[in-house]
Amino acid sequence: MKKKIRKLKQQLRSQRDYFLKRMRMKISALWDRELPAPSIAEKQKVEDFRTIVRGFQIPEDQFLATDADRMWNRFKREMRDYILENDPRTFLRCRSIIKSISVPDSPYGYKELGYLRSRQDWKSRWEFGIEEDAWGHPHPYWCYPKSSGTRIHHAYHLALFEEMTGVKFSDHSTFIEFGGGYGNMPRLMNKLGYQGRYLIFDFPEFSALQHFYLEGLEMSHGDLDQWSCEECHQCTVSEWSDLAEAMKKVDLTDSLFMATWSLSEAPFVIREPMLKAVEGVKSILIAFQSHFEDLANVDYFNDYQKGHPEYDWVLLSIEHIPGHYYLFGTRR
Ligand SMILES: C[S@@+](CC[C@H](N)C(=O)[O-])C[C@H]1O[C@@H](n2cnc3c(N)ncnc32)[C@H](O)[C@@H]1O
Repeated sequence: MKKKIRKLKQQLRSQRDYFLKRMRMKISALWDRELPAPSIAEKQKVEDFRTIVRGFQIPEDQFLATDADRMWNRFKREMRDYILENDPRTFLRCRSIIKSISVPDSPYGYKELGYLRSRQDWKSRWEFGIEEDAWGHPHPYWCYPKSSGTRIHHAYHLALFEEMTGVKFSDHSTFIEFGGGYGNMPRLMNKLGYQGRYLIFDFPEFSALQHFYLEGLEMSHGDLDQWSCEECHQCTVSEWSDLAEAMKKVDLTDSLFMATWSLSEAPFVIREPMLKAVEGVKSILIAFQSHFEDLANVDYFNDYQKGHPEYDWVLLSIEHIPGHYYLFGTRR
């Protein structure tokens, strides 16, 4: 009997969640606007991107070792098809991108927005910072259409990090991000006035997307060769040799390493070299889910903390996303 009641409650909860999701999407659609026709410069960016996308070397699933690799492979294939068959400037409408690297209609975004709005620096920093761009064609956030679920979510990471550690994100000369999605975080930081440099390590396909996104926003984005100069702030790499090369240009003791729902979704063989590459950073901002596929993340990140007593650690269970955590570290 108890089992039946539990099952019924679960069914009711998922029906309610589905209904609320539909409502949020309907409200968001009321604010939605079409993108204007592309300019000549935009058409060129689109063509350049499509040329890169046509060259994607996505391996056959049977050659991949883990479920996670196969999952990412599927997302890459769907993204490729979307870019080739639709207007790439609307990539945030691609189903696989919505599922894998963005949170357009998050059920918790309004809580994160509430937190940002309650801060003393809402007017001076976050209100402008979270204002969205047309490029990518994000869904307007249902109760705050000037922004998007993803932009609000990322702003929340930064604001909470500052509150919990007392360290400002602008106090780092470089940000090094593992798994940067489509590049929303460097864009947000740019809008917040961050003057330092930003490096993303990701799969080649997502690096290409980040490049397209940041270029489309006229950000000072470039290749690794250009990254050392003053005019080039953001760079995306996907080869370990390029990461090693990039690290030579970075003062780790003045850098922040970020990995939100990315390191925790990568196999251990990827995590180890990544964490080794950033050993010695000033600050760490990680977000993770307790389990991903068969990977037990709480144990993994607990061990990581224990192995690094040179940091002050804050491990927070995220109240509005049950089963998910932030791990913030600041060097003593
Ligand atoms: C769930 S998304 C998170 C994106 C972003 N950090 C955020 O919080 O919105 C995971 C990111 O990690 C990257 N990623 C996952 N596994 C990876 C791997 N094995 N190597 C490189 N990047 C990986 C994905 O391409 C993607 O950009």
